[in-house]
Amino acid sequence: MRIDRLKQVLILGMVFISSICSAAVATQYLRCEYLNDPLGIDATRPRLSWIITSNRRGEMQTAYQILVASSPKLLNEGQGDLWDSGKVSSDESSQITYAGDPLISRESCFWKVRTWDRDGKVGDWSPDAQWTMGLLQPADWSAKWIESVPSTGDTNAPLIIRQATYEAGAEGQSADVTAVLNSHIKQGRLNVVVNRETLGVDPDTNAVKRLRVEYEYGGRTGKKEADENQTLMLPGHSAPVPYLRKSFELESPVQRAVLYVTALGLYEVNINGQRVGDHLLAPDWTDYRMRVRYQTFDVTGLLKTGGNAMGALLADGWFSGHIGNGGYEFFGKEPAFLAQLEVTYVDGRTERIVTDDTWKSHDSPILSSDFMLGEDYDSRLEIKGWDQPGLDAGKWSAVMVRDESSRQLESQVMPPVREICELNPKTVKEPKPGGWIYDLGQNMVGVVRLKVSAPAGTRIILRHAEMLNPDGTLYRRNLRGAPSIDQYVCKGDGVEIWQPRFTFHGFRYVEISGLTNPPTLDAVTGIVIGSDTPRTGEFACSDARINQLQSNIQWGQRGNYISVPTDCPQRDERLGWMGDAEVFICTATYNADVAAFFTKWLVDVDDGQSPAGAFSNVSPNTSRDVGGVPAWGDSGVICPWTIYEMYGDQRILEQHLPAMRKWVDYMQSHSDGLIRDKDRGEDFGDWLSINADTPKDLIGTAYFAYSTHLLAKSCRVLGRPAEADKYDQLFADIKTAFNKRYVAADGRIQGNTQCAYAMALQFELLPEDLRPKAAQHLKEDIKAKGNHLSTGFVGVSCLLPALTQAGKADTAYGLLFQDTFPSWLFSVKHGATTIWERWDGWTPERGFQDPGMNSFNHYSLGSCGEYLFGYIGGIRPASPGFKTILIDPVIRHDLTWASTDFDSIHGKIATAWKVRGKRLTLEVVVPANTTATVCVPGWNQASITESGKSVENAEAVKFLRRENDKTVFEVGSGNYKFTSEIRR
Ligand code: BGC
Repeated sequence: MRIDRLKQVLILGMVFISSICSAAVATQYLRCEYLNDPLGIDATRPRLSWIITSNRRGEMQTAYQILVASSPKLLNEGQGDLWDSGKVSSDESSQITYAGDPLISRESCFWKVRTWDRDGKVGDWSPDAQWTMGLLQPADWSAKWIESVPSTGDTNAPLIIRQATYEAGAEGQSADVTAVLNSHIKQGRLNVVVNRETLGVDPDTNAVKRLRVEYEYGGRTGKKEADENQTLMLPGHSAPVPYLRKSFELESPVQRAVLYVTALGLYEVNINGQRVGDHLLAPDWTDYRMRVRYQTFDVTGLLKTGGNAMGALLADGWFSGHIGNGGYEFFGKEPAFLAQLEVTYVDGRTERIVTDDTWKSHDSPILSSDFMLGEDYDSRLEIKGWDQPGLDAGKWSAVMVRDESSRQLESQVMPPVREICELNPKTVKEPKPGGWIYDLGQNMVGVVRLKVSAPAGTRIILRHAEMLNPDGTLYRRNLRGAPSIDQYVCKGDGVEIWQPRFTFHGFRYVEISGLTNPPTLDAVTGIVIGSDTPRTGEFACSDARINQLQSNIQWGQRGNYISVPTDCPQRDERLGWMGDAEVFICTATYNADVAAFFTKWLVDVDDGQSPAGAFSNVSPNTSRDVGGVPAWGDSGVICPWTIYEMYGDQRILEQHLPAMRKWVDYMQSHSDGLIRDKDRGEDFGDWLSINADTPKDLIGTAYFAYSTHLLAKSCRVLGRPAEADKYDQLFADIKTAFNKRYVAADGRIQGNTQCAYAMALQFELLPEDLRPKAAQHLKEDIKAKGNHLSTGFVGVSCLLPALTQAGKADTAYGLLFQDTFPSWLFSVKHGATTIWERWDGWTPERGFQDPGMNSFNHYSLGSCGEYLFGYIGGIRPASPGFKTILIDPVIRHDLTWASTDFDSIHGKIATAWKVRGKRLTLEVVVPANTTATVCVPGWNQASITESGKSVENAEAVKFLRRENDKTVFEVGSGNYKFTSEIRR
């Protein structure tokens, strides 16, 4: 695992404070727009954040000074020629808006900050940081979009199936279905579901079958395979992933070179044989109809005087490959590439090397690459030196320039997809001759790195799966139309190492076939990828099952936050499902710094909103559905609000307020008497609940109320009191309508489901006197179900916090520690390493659920992660961005200890509690420049000590009040160790 940068910085900072600095604070971990030293941003008023650390209690920042200079030299001399904020009396340390000279395209900004401590003593300057501006105006781009012209073959040649065999295992019965498949193609069907209905024959009704196809298209031959009930996707166009290149001369030494680059599709770019950056699957997915994100790299070190070359690979990706739910060539037919290299010589002259019609293209060894299908690579077709100067490109074709000037180019403002870590296989087995199955021990998302040695022309096939059949073979039916097969053809010159570039799979198991000799265990390495959001949270407790649950949640987040928050990584879906994102976002903010990730995605969300105001079901919006679905559409309000609450980000509210307002107005005009009993789009209800149908209009009305309430609060935050009053009134009116329609005088809510009660409590829809009654009904329902939950995606996110807030933490704990079906620990008990889509994805009695919808890596039901951090660990924001913190751990007998760390935007917050008999120890870490309200559980206030002394004498600790079985203190920053006596 990568070492968290913040942790390193903190350790260094503390050493620094204690050894060198006489001031009480150190200022560090500088970020601009949430990112470390970002290049090519387009925010002209970027926001700057830092944290301060101190080794004394009750530390506060009383003032700061920011210097922004146009060169490191000026910064070093203390001259903020772009901005010198002067000494600003303020305790704000996050998201300070740059207020210096107007920033222009390409500008380099070097900055540092110093802070004054609580005694008004100034600390040392922070380490230097920087950001650069991107290309802010369309006129800054002189590069042209280019696409390749295949150097071989004829793309107009028809697709012909040479041989199609439907077979039951390698030695089983088989049927020749060549003619059937050719007739499908004639009728324009390129996606064929492999079953008796489509193929007209079943060679063996008792066996699991497989279709193998050899085809010819565009002058090339190719092979494809798919298992029974999966969709075989035949190529719509046969062009392999192209190499693109340009060689160029640089006259004299280079002082600085910056590459601005992107694609409609996916690219990797090299200069002089070296890879630029470590991004994968770039650029990040957007609604390309609205905008394309470009990346900026400092490539000074890659260039030299004399001959140079730039080379790129360009794949279909989300733009023109297969995307979820049957989408193919959704945004366009051919991918395109755009690159602008800006060189400044030492003597001050400048030069640009841009994509244009002087570039050349050639087929690369990547014969095809697609998210759903996988990647085919023939290493015999590699061209040595393709990305280096001096290549004879005589046989390369000219590229085509195409006009894409209507597309808006914007900078990428989020952490890119990167390789996160590697997994070594635990075992390799050969359940069927010739098919070696590797178990990586963890359901993961990414690709396999293959290391083999075999004769030239050996075709190795890698098939991926999340689970195994009882006979030890791969269970792949749940992949639906995503064959997920990578193929590698050896060149036969010793040990060969390869990994696919432009695809990814969700898998724990991979089968290698095509080798004659058994492969060794190290033939396979799992390469885990994901949007590289910095890890911020760790949770551990005395129950190993809960720790596994937390691990499953984190793995689910890592694998599904790929460019956008997706639903699942393995089947033919992988879309930015809005409901999934909304129920999980709070959990996500504890596990990782997702602020920049959501800053980008929420733009996709607004892009997908209909003119009438309905938010879409998926973002980027690739569905033709009308949208407007309760809980799914509400993502457009809940997600900005959560980012505001967790990071104190007002700008995100400001930016999305118009869309949020439009959505609430849409719901109002598409309801009857404020009840959402119509126009709810596809309406998924409490998706995947267990025998508990919550009325869909009730869910719609509850979410209508909730979004309206959040909108009112947002208006208030943004200083729009009149609007806030208007939406508060609307919220009150919806509540009245809700109670009238759905809630009885005894607190019973229509449907009598856990989802209905949990939502009504959590969204504050009930009058005060009915809250305890509703909570009691909820508790009774759970009890009647043998301490089991029955909620689906929607209800589950509210369930545990609602119970706990209503004073029923015992019931919440009971649900969390339940391990019989349905429960969170049921899947853990059965070996899950990620969160399953369904409570009953697999059961001992029935085996696998319906393969039509059975992902083993869906994070939605993992929304209980928020409870682990926020309630068991007890770390919650008392004000936006954790400037003030609530520490309120829920301690029950199921656990004897829990330890929770969370790197907030203000620094590390931590709790660690331990129970021995009746004695509780609660250790708390509160970051400098914040304060916390700490609730110390314990029946006897007098028994409470802090760091071994009576709490009355503790430094920076102030008694506030007694509350039920807790004593509440206000504390300043620092490390605390409370002890108390609790009831057992
Ligand atoms: C997805 C879900 C999504 C749902 C809508 C499914 O196919 O995988 O996670 O929210 O559709 O109900």
